[in-house]
Amino acid sequence: MRNGLLIAFEGIDGTGKSTQLQLSASFLRDMGCRVITTCEPTDSSYGRRIRQLYVDRGQCTLEEELHLFIQDRQIHVQELIKPQLAAGSIVLTDRYYYSTAAYQGAAGMDVAEIFVANDFAPTPDLVILLSMDPEISIARIQEGRGEQLNDFEQLDQLKKVADLFASFNDPCIHRIDAAAGLEQVRKQVQTALSVLLEERNFTCP
Ligand code: TYD
Repeated sequence: MRNGLLIAFEGIDGTGKSTQLQLSASFLRDMGCRVITTCEPTDSSYGRRIRQLYVDRGQCTLEEELHLFIQDRQIHVQELIKPQLAAGSIVLTDRYYYSTAAYQGAAGMDVAEIFVANDFAPTPDLVILLSMDPEISIARIQEGRGEQLNDFEQLDQLKKVADLFASFNDPCIHRIDAAAGLEQVRKQVQTALSVLLEERNFTCP
């Protein structure tokens, strides 16, 4: 039973996903909607293991890495996403299975098989896919946040990730050019949210 809406924010690192997710949460809450914000990897034991990989991806095989992301998502779906959708909430998730298809696909795993392995996960009502040239997103990560790149964020790898994100064309995907600037992107995201609510006749109490 699904009364709520599932909206995923996707894209390479440094595109402003998390900021746009928070702005979207405020926008929807101001309309009276019940909004749950969440992210992947989660803080399950699998998610914590994944975070250890950020510093050294060589700790496990690609198959094991993919398995960890899927196990983490299974818990996320069972314990949070499905119950919240049944309760009528709007769930906003920072990353979902398109990230697995793009990142683990870029690492060499079969993209079609990754989608099949994610069959258990509810299809999102909307995916806000923020796109950006990886060189710009990396500069943002390093200069803006003063952070070093983790093992998932190296340039060669991110170029492949960006190419895979660009190749996905499911009907739920709404692509937005993230280089347009925070305010421009915010407006486009809000338009996409409003269109979705209207299309689904979704009224917030
Ligand atoms: P990120 O959103 O940057 O989380 P944090 O704020 O904790 O750093 O995501 C963490 C990294 O995990 C990111 O570089 C992408 C990668 N990732 C995958 O490789 N596959 C996946 O399925 C997910 C959800 C994330």
